[in-house]
Amino acid sequence: RIPLLIDTDPGVDDALALLMAFNDARHEVVGLTIAAGNVGLEHTVANALKLCEVCKVDVPVFAGTAEPLLHPAEDAAFVHGRDGFGDTGYAPATRTAEAEHAALAILRLSHEHAGKLLLVALGPLTNVALALKLDPTLPQRVARCLVMGGAVSAHGNITAAAEFNIAFDPEAAHIVFSAFPKIDVADWEAVIAHGFLHTDAERWLAAESPRAGFYAGISAHTRAWSRAGRGERWHAADALAMAFALEPEGALEVLERPLAVELDGRHSRGATIVDWNRRHGRPDNAAILMRYDQARFEGLLERALAAG
Ligand code: BDR
Ligand code: CA
Repeated sequence: RIPLLIDTDPGVDDALALLMAFNDARHEVVGLTIAAGNVGLEHTVANALKLCEVCKVDVPVFAGTAEPLLHPAEDAAFVHGRDGFGDTGYAPATRTAEAEHAALAILRLSHEHAGKLLLVALGPLTNVALALKLDPTLPQRVARCLVMGGAVSAHGNITAAAEFNIAFDPEAAHIVFSAFPKIDVADWEAVIAHGFLHTDAERWLAAESPRAGFYAGISAHTRAWSRAGRGERWHAADALAMAFALEPEGALEVLERPLAVELDGRHSRGATIVDWNRRHGRPDNAAILMRYDQARFEGLLERALAAG
């Protein structure tokens, strides 16, 4: 099985992505490294541990860094609830996080699974950037790196031009996109193009499984927010990224281009600048998902919720 390491800030759509990963027979989740982002680190760690408990998986959970590298950033509690899991008041998991820091765990696991590791980042890239600063040879041991982040035509979701994960810690994103020779990218605009109907999601959530039951509860706040603001389709960013990670054969169009992260900019800090016409002669460091098989994506979602 392919070893899969997930850096994540759960987060309602992160949780859906994790359910997909836990349900995949071809991948083995070898660790969850936890970032701050959607909400503070104490909540994202607690949420990851709780989800593992609900799913009866004993994947190790490693807490990362509580702040972006340079500048403080706003969280996304307005989407995910104050605790990041819809404020349901769930009983905390009995297990606690490992003692090892997330950045160190990324490095250790990259050695243990050298040449085979699939690294999927579903949150701000602070932990991955720190790992790269500690050991710049990390990319040599990672078989594939996939990031949910960016807005490749500057159609942002947290500012006019920037997507949340990149905008939360642009310096970290810059470090990561400068270090890996090629990163698979599922950006916000791809997510918008792959919304699924709330009415379908409600049907999947009615499955008689503890996973569906728990997920129906923690996602209620986000689903209501999404429906009120965006209409009949739900855009679960990290779930699309995980579909691309687990079943890359479902990608119908992927474009390779140079991608840089804007660190300054009066209106554009955190934007992902894609050199579509290759004006500057930089290498194609991003493989950008443009189109994914929608039926395959929805099948993965439905099965992930029904499992367990
Ligand atoms: C991304 O930001 C977060 O709110 C989601 O979990 C996702 O990773 C979408 O922009
Ligand atoms: Ca996320």
